[in-house]
Amino acid sequence: MVRLKPSPRLEAAESLKTKIDMSQASQTPSQSETKLLSGLFQLLEPHLATLDRFLLEQVNSFEEEIRGYVEYCMDTGGKRIRPSLIFFSGWQGEGVVDQKLVKLAAVIETIHLATLVHDDIMDEADIRRNRPTVAKKDGNATAVLLGDALFSHAVYLATQFPTAEVSEKVAIAMRNVCTGEILQTMQRGDPDIDLATYQRVIDLKTAELFSVACFLGARLAERDQSYVEAAGNFGRHLGIAYQIYDDLTDLVGSEEKIGKTLGTDIATGKATLPIILLRDGLPQEEAALLRATLSGESETDVSIWQAKLIELGVIDAVQEAIFSEIRLAREGIASFVGSKDADLLYTISELLWNQVEALQSDRARS
Ligand code: IPE
Ligand code: IPE
Ligand code: MG
Ligand code: MG
Repeated sequence: MVRLKPSPRLEAAESLKTKIDMSQASQTPSQSETKLLSGLFQLLEPHLATLDRFLLEQVNSFEEEIRGYVEYCMDTGGKRIRPSLIFFSGWQGEGVVDQKLVKLAAVIETIHLATLVHDDIMDEADIRRNRPTVAKKDGNATAVLLGDALFSHAVYLATQFPTAEVSEKVAIAMRNVCTGEILQTMQRGDPDIDLATYQRVIDLKTAELFSVACFLGARLAERDQSYVEAAGNFGRHLGIAYQIYDDLTDLVGSEEKIGKTLGTDIATGKATLPIILLRDGLPQEEAALLRATLSGESETDVSIWQAKLIELGVIDAVQEAIFSEIRLAREGIASFVGSKDADLLYTISELLWNQVEALQSDRARS
C-alpha cells in the first residue's frame, strides 16, 4: 500500500511534499494518485507527527538497558496504516488532534511492531522498513523478548483509558494475531492448505488489528454504535484485502520499493492465496514440484513461479480477490458516505485499490 507517511521525521515529510509537488508539475499518469496521497498526508500530518513524538517518548518508560532496542523499533518509517485508520474512523475535523486517538494509535502501532519483530524471526527475514530486522541485528532470543516487552507496553498503555473496553478489545486482538501466526507456523510446509484455512489465518493475523483500529477509533470519538460497528467491519475487509496484496507483493513486488525482504513465503513453505491458486492451476508435474518446494523436499528459484503466476493468470485472479474484499469493505460503510470520517476511510480503500492496479502497470512496463 502507498506509504501514508514515509518516515516519522518531519524533515522526511518535507521531502515527500517536495516530491509530490514535482510529480504534480510533471503531469504524470499517476497524478490523481499523487493528489490523493498528498491530500491525505496533509490532513494526517499533525496527527502522525504527534504520534511519532508520543512513540519516541515511550522509549523512556523502558528500563535503561533496553531503550536502544526499543528505539530501534519505534524510530522507523512504517506506513502507519493502522494509526491512519484510527484517526480517520474517529475524524474530528482538520487540525484537531485528539490525544485519546493518539494514545490508541500508539497502542495499536506498538502491537503491530511487536508482531513484526516476532514475524521476522519466523520468516527468517533480514530487512524490515529498510534496515536489518531485530532478529538479524541482535539475534532471535533478543527479538522474542523485545517483542514481548513491546506487547506488554501496549497493554500498559491500553489500561490508561477510563473504560475497560479498550484493554479488552486490544487484549483479544493481540491473542488473535498470535493465534493467526501460530496456525500459520503449524501449517508451514503443508503444501495442501485450502482457501478456507488461508482465509482464517489472515483474518486472525492481520484483519483483526485493522478492524479493532477502526472500531475503537470510532468508539473513542463517541460515534453512534451503528457507525462504530460499520467501521470495524470496514477494517476487517480492508485488512484481508491488504494481507492478500502483501502476499502478492511477496512474489511479484520489488524489495527496493517495499523495503523488506520478499520471496520468503514460498521459501518458508507458506501457502498464500497466489501460491494456492498457482498450485491448483498448474499441470500435475509442475504442481508436484511446487508442492515439494513448499514442503522443503526440493529447492526451486522463485523466478520460475513468478513466470507461472503470469502465464496462468493467477495475478489477475488475486487482484480480483483483493478488489472484491475492498468492495465488501466499502459496502459496510456505504450508508455513512457523505460524512467526513466514512469518506476518509473510503479514500484509504481507494489508495489500496490504486496500489493493486499499479502492480499491473509495473508488470506491463517490465
Ligand atoms: C506488514 O504491515 C505486515 C502485514 C500485515 C502485511 P505493514 O505493511 O503495515 O508494515 P509497516 O508498518 O508499513 O512496516
Ligand atoms: C505477517 O504477515 C503479518 C503479521 C501479522 C505480522 P507477513 O509475514 O506476510 O508480513 P510481512 O510480509 O513479513 O510484512
Ligand atoms: Mg513476514
Ligand atoms: Mg508478507
